[in-house]
Amino acid sequence: METHFARRMQRVSASAIMELIKTTAGGNFISFASGLPDPSLFPARELRDITDDILTRDDNNALQYGAAEGFAPLRDWVAQRLRERGLKATAENVLITSGSQQALDLVARALLDAGDTVLMESPSYLAAIQAFDSYEVNYVTLPMDEDGMDTAALEKALASCSPKLIFTLPNFQNPTGITLSAERRQRVAELAAAKDIPILEDDAYYDLRYDGEPLPPIASLAENRWAFYTGTFSKTIAPGIRVGWVYGDADLIARLAQLKQITDLHSNSLTQRIAYEFCARGKLPGQIEFLCRAYKEKRDAMLTALQHSMPPSVRWTHPQGGMFLFLTLPDGQDGDALLPHAMERGVVFVPGASFHPNGGGANTVRLNFVSPPHQDIERGITLLAQTIVSTGRA
Ligand SMILES: Cc1ncc(COP(=O)(O)O)c(C=O)c1O
Repeated sequence: METHFARRMQRVSASAIMELIKTTAGGNFISFASGLPDPSLFPARELRDITDDILTRDDNNALQYGAAEGFAPLRDWVAQRLRERGLKATAENVLITSGSQQALDLVARALLDAGDTVLMESPSYLAAIQAFDSYEVNYVTLPMDEDGMDTAALEKALASCSPKLIFTLPNFQNPTGITLSAERRQRVAELAAAKDIPILEDDAYYDLRYDGEPLPPIASLAENRWAFYTGTFSKTIAPGIRVGWVYGDADLIARLAQLKQITDLHSNSLTQRIAYEFCARGKLPGQIEFLCRAYKEKRDAMLTALQHSMPPSVRWTHPQGGMFLFLTLPDGQDGDALLPHAMERGVVFVPGASFHPNGGGANTVRLNFVSPPHQDIERGITLLAQTIVSTGRA
């Protein structure tokens, strides 16, 4: 038993990133390391008023057990929102989850057994990799360029393996900030549909778009009963309310609801109502606009600082939205090795290797441009550039 437990736990052990964030939290660091949104922009006053109203008028339903599928008006509201994105959605296609992280885990739990293959971009979202790891799967990874996942590589991989799941982050991917192009979305949708392969599309950052036009979800581009699409209020309202969702075929969603019931009965009754009221009162578009304005300024501040201070051998992505951008260091330089030197100078980031499920990416670095205070961004990037120059051959 001990060995079995140890093997399971090793696969899901606390990531170096969480440890790093803990170590540097509250310290005197400029941190580009966290995965967090800017807390100064949370709509706390509106949420307090809404909570007060709900608890005053709602006959205590908000404090009662609820349906595993989620608060019905919220499911309707999410379905309407998804129709606007081009998905054929009614409330029956929507399961409310405790953050979209739970949706990723539920889909993985429903589909994956030990030894199964998951096809995914490399790098990819760390907590999804950890969720999949807990089912003891193997990965076939697909390289990325500035248009997202390499679909020629996807086609080749599909010819030589039978994955149980394709996992992708189409918008402003965590960790790279890269967006999958319209043409490639179509290709991914067609390839998955042609072979009836389940596809899990994690679209946590959809609303945080600073440039360009929104692109359709892959799930809207081809008939595929096995297409799942996740979203969240974490990036638009606040992550602490833990309200997200998964869209899929109505019958499959009903079965995922059963799995969810086993896990936590249902998501938080109060915060589902809070999210719903926030949306029903028409507050979401204004909040998204407010966030996008602030985050765009921070992204631009980071891009300008990188342009000014990085040596020519360092490259970085130019995200159209989201929270992260990704640096590629000169050959031979290593993000893990750079980190202690950067910390000595007072700046922290996440080395990119941990986002690569099959290894690689040692010379990459993830930077969060939304969580540090605006005034720290230029200084932090200057310190990082000095560290790169002083420790490498740049
Ligand atoms: C890409 C991505 N997907 C999903 C999540 C999970 O978010 P939540 O569970 O708060 O909805 C995150 C959180 O950082 C994320 O970056």
